[in-house]
Amino acid sequence: MRVVVNAAMSADGKLSTRERTQVAISGEADFDRVAKLRAESDAIMVGVGTVLADDPSLTIDGEAYDPDENPVRVVADSRVRTPADATVLNDEAPTYLLVNEVVPNNWIDQMEEAGAYVIVAGDERVDLETALAELEDEERIDQLMVEGGGELIFSLFEADLVDELSVFVGPQIIGGRDAPTLADGDGFTDNFPELDLVEVERIDDGVLLRYDVP
Ligand SMILES: NC(=O)c1ccc[n+]([C@@H]2O[C@H](COP(=O)([O-])OP(=O)(O)OC[C@H]3O[C@@H](n4cnc5c(N)ncnc54)[C@H](OP(=O)(O)O)[C@@H]3O)[C@@H](O)[C@H]2O)c1
Repeated sequence: MRVVVNAAMSADGKLSTRERTQVAISGEADFDRVAKLRAESDAIMVGVGTVLADDPSLTIDGEAYDPDENPVRVVADSRVRTPADATVLNDEAPTYLLVNEVVPNNWIDQMEEAGAYVIVAGDERVDLETALAELEDEERIDQLMVEGGGELIFSLFEADLVDELSVFVGPQIIGGRDAPTLADGDGFTDNFPELDLVEVERIDDGVLLRYDVP
């Protein structure tokens, strides 16, 4: 499974504000690029922090795309914090919740009743390597696109699971020491993952940087 991380950040590296409200960092041209990347992917993943902050649908907008061909949706959600009425659980595509082994069975039953498929892996946060391997057993997934947020992206780099990073850098400063950045978590102190820069493209007033992760 190829794991492609895609995000939009401000010129100072923030994914949103300290209030974790959604910010329009990119514009129409980048939305089109993201829609295409979604359509080329078999699954789209976020962390539950993004579900709680943005309530995304994780489906592909635009007349060019067949609504019956939406990729599978995946949420890393150790403790089942996804609300039963979250948009990501609507019937526009199958949705997998990745949860930990400590979650009570009746919580899992409730989410399955709300329409989710549940994968159990890890005793605290989700063990991403195990969970993604199980997801691959359940669904044919050649490409998984990860849309954030910073906590999940850091964990994927920490577990050495990322193959490609695309980041749109927008023309604004958001600031704030508590505002989410591209990679949060505990951070690295050494052995920093090294990236190969493969593409630089101006889009609107920002720049798209694309890296391979060797
Ligand atoms: N600009 C962009 O492109 C973009 C994209 C997406 C999101 N965002 C913004 O980013 C913010 C949300 O980001 P976030 O960092 O707070 O949340 P996040 O990365 O979406 O979700 C993090 C949560 O996922 C759960 N999780 C389960 N297993 C995990 C694991 N192995 N590693 C890491 N997390 C795991 C954890 O909650 P539990 O411990 O409860 O499981 C964790 O708190 C929002 O403000 C949103 O607007 C921006």
